[in-house]
Amino acid sequence: MTQAHGSVADILSAARLIPVLTIERLDRAVPLARALVAGGVRTLEITLRTAAGADAAAAIQAEVPEAIVGLGTVVRRQDLELAQRLKLPFAFSPGATPELLDAAVELGVPFIPGVGTASELIASMARGFTTVKLFPAEQVGGVGMLKALSGPFPSARFNPTGGVSPANMRDYLALKNVVAVGGSWLATPADIEASDWAGITAKCESAMAGARA
Ligand code: 3PG
Repeated sequence: MTQAHGSVADILSAARLIPVLTIERLDRAVPLARALVAGGVRTLEITLRTAAGADAAAAIQAEVPEAIVGLGTVVRRQDLELAQRLKLPFAFSPGATPELLDAAVELGVPFIPGVGTASELIASMARGFTTVKLFPAEQVGGVGMLKALSGPFPSARFNPTGGVSPANMRDYLALKNVVAVGGSWLATPADIEASDWAGITAKCESAMAGARA
């Protein structure tokens, strides 16, 4: 089982806060990762929703050893194969189709499926994926939904993402079944395009202080 060693849950619980990064230009990748690490944010989700995403993940992995780099927006088998090829420690999907879940098991990729319903959670857990992304968290029910899911699924652990912000992040992190939260606010596409590295570092420092409080 691809999460059996527990390392995915361990990585996420150590991180608490995971930026969802959409990188349009490869030359932004390494300075961005350095700005995040400087602000205390080391565990990074690099989405595959841009042409530069895969190369950006590889560049950060090679050049920023303090960063723990994984993929996001994994929606196809070839995305899982990329995670496998780069030996990345985690790969997030916004969804949990049977095809993707089965491919992750077959390839042995440390996969974190995205769930928005109890049925998707059941399908994920049946294949050994007990740590999942709740997506899109605020839109599917947020904190109330996570409390409701904790009854029938006491062993499931969640990384809520989608609509998480400095205003609500501590409500999520206070829940026993939440290992970490994810969000784009720590480094938005506009911040990255503007190369606002100092601003990103400052946002990370403030968010990490809030997450640990
Ligand atoms: C995403 O995949 O875009 C994430 O869920 C980020 O959502 P957010 O922009 O609401 O933080």
